[in-house]
Amino acid sequence: MRREDQIAEARKLLGFLDNRTTALADDIYRNPVSDYTCAEQAAREKELFFRRGAFNIGLSALLPNPGDWMTHDYAGVPILLARNAEGGLGAFLNVCRHRGARVADGSGSKLRDFRCPYHGWCYGLDGALMARPDERSFAAAERATHGLTGLPVAEKYGMIWVSPDPAAAFDVDRMLGGLSGDLAAYGLENWHHYETRVLRRKFNWKLGVDTFGETYHLQHLHPNTVDPLFHSNRCTFDAFGPNHRMLAARKTFDTLRTLPEHQWDVFDNTVVICVLFPNTVFTYQRDHVETWHFFPGDKPDECLMYVSLYIPDPVETQANKDHWDRNFNLLMATVEMEDFPTCEGMQVGFRSGAQDVITFGRNEPALQHFHKNVSAALAAAA
Ligand code: FES
Ligand SMILES: [Fe+2]
Repeated sequence: MRREDQIAEARKLLGFLDNRTTALADDIYRNPVSDYTCAEQAAREKELFFRRGAFNIGLSALLPNPGDWMTHDYAGVPILLARNAEGGLGAFLNVCRHRGARVADGSGSKLRDFRCPYHGWCYGLDGALMARPDERSFAAAERATHGLTGLPVAEKYGMIWVSPDPAAAFDVDRMLGGLSGDLAAYGLENWHHYETRVLRRKFNWKLGVDTFGETYHLQHLHPNTVDPLFHSNRCTFDAFGPNHRMLAARKTFDTLRTLPEHQWDVFDNTVVICVLFPNTVFTYQRDHVETWHFFPGDKPDECLMYVSLYIPDPVETQANKDHWDRNFNLLMATVEMEDFPTCEGMQVGFRSGAQDVITFGRNEPALQHFHKNVSAALAAAA
């Protein structure tokens, strides 16, 4: 986030604290419960966002060096990412061109080629078919046309986007809708991946995104964890196309009042939360970045997600490692014991017939923005 934007948002936040208010939408918004339960909508979301569209995978730090590779199956399509000897990033369908076996599983580094575990067909890090046992028996199926099927991939601002559709075309800056400069300013190219954790829960993937969409709930749901650290219901909101950015105020935020603006350390007194539409939540907290990636499960009431912790400097000491482990464990304890059980309760409640719509208040503009954009994207694709 650029310095001038930090100052502008900090001024807004001080105003909200003074006036005991928060960023407000023009009106309330009634969101249909079917948004979270309808099988037909869930199928259309899967097709539009997770089969044909493009989404953020995380930071480039997931694969920092030539020979680094990882698989990604969260969208329901087997994806393989690899960084080649020249440093370029490739994405492929993780499907052998002989008879379709998975070419790789998990992640690793220092790899020179992928060898299919079934019959040993061998692919370069650029996906080209290099060699295969008993070449003569396959001579009529030329090697040149039997490389791994490539996927559109983009690396920008130290982050990675991919589409599981080989025929898709996407432009990261267009997708970011004006948030590019904001992301560029973090200098994420030089960051490091600490750890990724994977969770499956019984709620719709959009409820996962919603978890990070307002600060209204902090003092009620998190009295002992988040509330002592952050002001409830005091938050900025700015839309960038279908994406958005929020800044929430730490309880220390008032200390800025004692300093001239050029001395404001805005990051030290806030958390920045961005939704990279459709399914990624990017948070910048003082000295680390977390990215959450939500995907639909088999039913509308299920989701699959992973959360990654990224840090500015590599871990060098045990004390360092302990610090980040504590940080990550605390974060996970809060969402796993407070937020996500609440979401699972909501999902069951959605099925109860209690109401056809839920209400997003004027103080929940990010939720309004996200859900309006999901609806608009589905309508535009219909
Ligand atoms: S399926 Fe990969 S080598 Fe046969
Ligand atoms: Fe929460």
